Amino acid sequence: MNLSKIFAPTSLLVTGGAGFIGSNFVRSFIESHPDVRVTVLDALTYAGNLENLANLESRFSFVKADICDAEAVRKALADHAVDAVVHFAAESHVDRSILGPMIFTQTNVLGTHVMLEESRRHGVARFVHVSTDEVYGSLGPEGAFTEQSPIDPTSPYAASKAASDLVVQAYAKTFGFPAIITRCSNNYGPWQFPEKLIPLMLINAMNDKALPVYGDGMNVRDWIHTRDHSAAVLAVLSRGMPGEVYNVGSSNEWPNIEIVKLILRTLGKPESLITYVKDRPAHDRRYAIDSSKIERELGWKAMIPFDEGIAETIAWYRANERWWQRVMSGEYLEYYERQYGKR
Ligand code: NAD
Ligand code: DAU
Repeated sequence: MNLSKIFAPTSLLVTGGAGFIGSNFVRSFIESHPDVRVTVLDALTYAGNLENLANLESRFSFVKADICDAEAVRKALADHAVDAVVHFAAESHVDRSILGPMIFTQTNVLGTHVMLEESRRHGVARFVHVSTDEVYGSLGPEGAFTEQSPIDPTSPYAASKAASDLVVQAYAKTFGFPAIITRCSNNYGPWQFPEKLIPLMLINAMNDKALPVYGDGMNVRDWIHTRDHSAAVLAVLSRGMPGEVYNVGSSNEWPNIEIVKLILRTLGKPESLITYVKDRPAHDRRYAIDSSKIERELGWKAMIPFDEGIAETIAWYRANERWWQRVMSGEYLEYYERQYGKR
């Protein structure tokens, strides 16, 4: 590895830093880079929660703003003399994108475009765009997504992320803007909003509520601990090649039903809680990620074994009931009724 190519930010802006992965990234970045100035820009939507960054308040600046608001983004970049951006902010939930797709195009496409344009004008030296393996669509029983796999999204969420990736690539090609894209598989870990598979099943099981499994439960996801994802984003920020795409995964494929049974076993709850419900429309059958490029070129590798990571995550949700009780607000309950009420 060529050490002269290492990029060291002096002032980092993290969009979506109050969300699940963003807050995990901010936590680990602050610990490993005490001398770098960190600013979190977040609109604090239903998914954003400053309690995710509890005890770190003195270590970063916070700007409450919408990434679609060009003036606010411009001001944040200037006020904090930002030289690098890690862009997590997005609408991130596939089911919400089916219930209400427009906000996904607005936030994920328009918002990303605003971030790019303002960062380019400001002279940002590195911009990491955090994307997803969902832009590749669905896999059959064999093989894994590489960076060359065709872009073939199925949900409005995945389409909005794919569109934002294309705008990022256009900025890199047309303006030589130093942007890099990561495409990661399903994350799990502490502070995940309790409407995604693992925290939803965990909390329902703890409360002896039905566990709504979509379709036949045999859709496969490739699970990675969010701390491993954060380490990959850091590797890309400091050593990634501008204009490139890096896939991130941990070769840890599980059919959904097996994850659900594992949670029930760990909590000592009966499988009779499992309830098969109507499938998600256009439900991608299988994701699997080939991470050989980032492993080979940047020396990153997922380090957290799934049995340890999932045990730690389950223990975290058991110990942090106060956190999830508070985030399960009125807005969340209304979403839950719309999503599962008639299935
Ligand atoms: P999340 O929904 O938990 O958090 C999103 C954050 O973005 C929240 O803090 C929210 O307040 C903020 N946000 C939303 N709209 C905003 C706006 N208009 N302006 C400013 N802030 C806004 O999401 P997550 O699961 O942490 O995902 C973070 C990123 O990683 C997303 O870009 C997502 O596409 C990507 N990703 C997620 C996963 C996963 O498994 N969760 C996997 C791969 C990639
Ligand atoms: O692959 C990366 C993506 O992973 C990210 O880009 C997204 O932001 C993130 O939300 C996640 O998308 P998924 O749609 O895979 O995650 P979700 O947790 O919603 O669902 C995981 C699987 O579990 C999926 O096959 C659908 C199924 N599922 C989900 C829920 C919420 C159920 O069977 N029942 C449920 O109630």
